[in-house]
Amino acid sequence: MNSIEPDERIPRGWARRPRERMLITPLVAGVGGLLAFFTVVAIVVWLPIHTFDPPASSDWAPLAKVAVKGRNLFAQNGCYVCHSGYSRPQDVRHALYFLYPKISQPGDFFGSDQSPNLLGTERTGPDLSQEAGWHPDDWQRAHFYDPRFVDPMSLMPAMKSLFSDRQVEELISFVQMRSGKSGLLRYAGQLYAKHVAITNQGFQPPPVGFKGVHAKIQEGADRKVPAGQLEEAPNLSQIDRSYWLAGDPLPVTEGNLLRGKQVFLERCVGCHGPKGNGKGPAASFMAPPPADFTSADDACCGGDTGPGDFYYRILRGWPGTAMENFGERLSVDDIWRVVLFVKTIPNHTLRRDVIPEPKDYIVWQPSKELLAWVASRQKLPSNADFVKKPVTDPFMQEAMRIFPGLAPGDRFFLNGTTEPLSLDDAAKAIRTIYEDLLNRAWADAKARGEKLPPEEQKLIPPEVPGQQ
Ligand code: HEC
Ligand code: HEC
Repeated sequence: MNSIEPDERIPRGWARRPRERMLITPLVAGVGGLLAFFTVVAIVVWLPIHTFDPPASSDWAPLAKVAVKGRNLFAQNGCYVCHSGYSRPQDVRHALYFLYPKISQPGDFFGSDQSPNLLGTERTGPDLSQEAGWHPDDWQRAHFYDPRFVDPMSLMPAMKSLFSDRQVEELISFVQMRSGKSGLLRYAGQLYAKHVAITNQGFQPPPVGFKGVHAKIQEGADRKVPAGQLEEAPNLSQIDRSYWLAGDPLPVTEGNLLRGKQVFLERCVGCHGPKGNGKGPAASFMAPPPADFTSADDACCGGDTGPGDFYYRILRGWPGTAMENFGERLSVDDIWRVVLFVKTIPNHTLRRDVIPEPKDYIVWQPSKELLAWVASRQKLPSNADFVKKPVTDPFMQEAMRIFPGLAPGDRFFLNGTTEPLSLDDAAKAIRTIYEDLLNRAWADAKARGEKLPPEEQKLIPPEVPGQQ
């Protein structure tokens, strides 16, 4: 058969069809696809990076030199993979310490926090944007060495073989100084409270870096109690006064004690030790070291060991010591239950397979001296809660957070010293430490040639966000 040219097959009188050609060739599709992709990338990534330059927020603070070194370690070791560095509105009620955390603002990430960007990818661990000042440095050291030392249920990897003593200190500086001015205020409060705790109880400063792992657990020196003052007065100044004589609302039953033991084994043994004697694996990192619960004498008759005192310590933590704030992690009843259980420890209830029984519970009784002190301190008109004018000075707010047991007129001395302690003294000291931290960070940022906001930004006072 002769081959027929296609044109010849068109019936006579019919118009010729234009030749068909594929317009979207693989090349056009490829180039177009790439163009579409990079347009989106340019608009969503490149453009904002190069044009979005919000002014520093009022809470922003630069990083000190040592904190910048810590930030580099944080980036190099992938800490941001598990820890984000910004809190979002949806984190309300899920935050580590705040019911209503400070929501991050674009201006919080001005300058030195920007590059490399450490906003983080996942939230396997808690958001660390507000970590500053929640724990003292000695807690951070023990936690970095092995997180299970302080939190037996932690899944964070141990860092004991990763960092030198110097690097641990740098990393700690970063987490303690990364949260802007409100974080520096909290850290200043923590540093002052540490000074108060170790001075008053006669301890040396805690060992630096990972040196704590080879150190001996410290023992406090006997301090001279100032005349006319209760020995436990400085300790009580860190417990709200309404708790000093409070009883445990739960009955002493086997069930409550057993649940208390479970909580203790899950949360407390890293520091207070599997025997409850204060010699857990974290203890040698700490000053003051964790409390020893094995003395029946302390359980029945201590000036600051009543059920209400213990409850308050566990609920809110003990600023200046490694004692944590469990208020967001344990239920109210579980805290009261662990308080019940702690008072059975002198009767060996922490032994394996021992079920604590009501007969093991040691009843606490306030001493005559304590009752006299309470009578002289619990004067309702001077109760801070009843003052109508709200406190607005952030340094005073921080002092009141750390010393909730001090009324505005209270004034006494730390044991073994002539150093006075009142809310005014504390607020003044916290302010000095805060200003020193902030000034040093600004000076370091200037020396690095960092872009800085106008000098007035520095003078805007810090705020105490969230839980007050
Ligand atoms: C595998 C995920 C993971 C990695 C990697 C990780 N962490 Fe954690 N981190 C956690 C978890 C989970 C917690 C909560 C439990 C705890 O306190 O240990 C935590 C807790 C913390 C806390 C204490 C928060 C608080 O106040 O209770 C700090 C500080 C911290 N991590 C810093 C770091 C640093 C710095 C690095 C890198 C050297 C790092 N983390 C690497 C998972 C991780
Ligand atoms: C990270 C370490 C750490 C963890 C975890 C910890 N504590 Fe503490 N605890 C301390 C330190 C340090 C002190 C302060 C001791 C001092 O200043 O004399 C303390 C003090 C206390 C006190 C006050 C004792 C007193 O005599 O006034 C109580 C009560 C207490 N802890 C109970 C608990 C309970 C219950 C848990 C677990 C739910 C727990 N602690 C978890 C470190 C810890």
